[in-house]
Amino acid sequence: MKTLAALDVAKIRADFPILGREVHGRPLVYLDSAASSQKPRAVIDAMSDYLSLHHANVHRGAHELSVEATNAYEGARAKVAGFIGAASPDEVVFTRGTTESINLVAYAWGQSLEPGDEIVLTVMEHHSNLVPWQLLAERSGATIRYAELTPEGRLDLDHLASLIGRATKLVGVTHVSNTLGMMNPVREISALAHEAGALCLVDGAQAVPHGGVDVQAIGCDFYAFSAHKMCGPTGIGALWGRPELLAAMPPFQGGGEMISEVRLESSTWAPVPGKFEAGTPAIAEAVGFGAAVDYLESVGLEAIRAHEEEIARYALDRLGELEHLRIVGPTENRLGVISFLYGDIHAHDLATILDRRGVAIRAGHHCNQPLMDYLGVDATARASFYLYTTRAEIDTLVEALLAARDLFGGFA
Ligand SMILES: Cc1ncc(COP(=O)(O)O)c(C=O)c1O
Repeated sequence: MKTLAALDVAKIRADFPILGREVHGRPLVYLDSAASSQKPRAVIDAMSDYLSLHHANVHRGAHELSVEATNAYEGARAKVAGFIGAASPDEVVFTRGTTESINLVAYAWGQSLEPGDEIVLTVMEHHSNLVPWQLLAERSGATIRYAELTPEGRLDLDHLASLIGRATKLVGVTHVSNTLGMMNPVREISALAHEAGALCLVDGAQAVPHGGVDVQAIGCDFYAFSAHKMCGPTGIGALWGRPELLAAMPPFQGGGEMISEVRLESSTWAPVPGKFEAGTPAIAEAVGFGAAVDYLESVGLEAIRAHEEEIARYALDRLGELEHLRIVGPTENRLGVISFLYGDIHAHDLATILDRRGVAIRAGHHCNQPLMDYLGVDATARASFYLYTTRAEIDTLVEALLAARDLFGGFA
């Protein structure tokens, strides 16, 4: 069995310059990695090296720098493809992130939808996997149906299965919930969708950072994720799609890079993935994305996952010691995302008080407003962990929560 000792967390922390800083005169305790992870020196250096020494536009120049930039950009695509088990780099489209990846599918694939068609989602979807489908439903006349949760806060698979039928064209589901912190059985859900002749899109924003994602083993049709949650930069992410689906879809945006030939009357499109990458792409960010993949692989994904599970268990135990603290969602088998309510202190007040002690947590609806409505709460506090999180930081979180309680004069 892997233990914390498998990961040298002190050594890892030294790779992240920001973790050495103070906030309000206290050492930073960064417990907001599910919103965006911090960046190791290897990623910062790779981007700086690219911008300092290799930058030019990609795919168009005959000169040396353009060749170097193109190789760096396409090399990053190959690394990202390998990280998620894609059969070929051509199946990976670079986008601005999970949100744009899902919008791309909803816009381009969604053009074939008509009134009477149905899209099945779940009440735990992030707004990124909700609003693009609502826009599509408005445009096409299609209907959205939502799968609910079991009493313990997991996806109700029976309910989901009951919603999938002949009218279903696509099932969209998050791989890991960014509020409830548990993993959904996406392989089973993909199979359910396929039995009904529907497609399955998986929102992998909270899953890919922890490694072990294999899109072919999952058997889904589209998989979306962001670099900035996995040690990479903001402004870039990816959409993986089945090659025959991507090839059949119309473009998402028009412009340079995505064309084969342009005439005044009409144009033809570049092969995938170029067809979906209109305009000059985020080249330095792609380089950073590739460097993030290298970094996570060099640390070791199994060890990272074991560490996160260990930290999540420790955090659940420690938070469980606090009277009046309620964990939102399942208390077993959680990944490194824990949402909670503490007495009658509003989550925003809690986050502000914790911030004064250097502890960064997230407070609010976490882009999960329908889930909050479903759970009957308006906001939660959320602590999230990554490969650099320590037990000592969880202890600091608990101390800060107790201090917040005292500041509010305790609970009735
Ligand atoms: C589950 C989930 N889906 C989608 C997103 C959106 O990611 P991005 O803002 O990088 O597009 C997030 C970000 O918090 C998320 O947690």
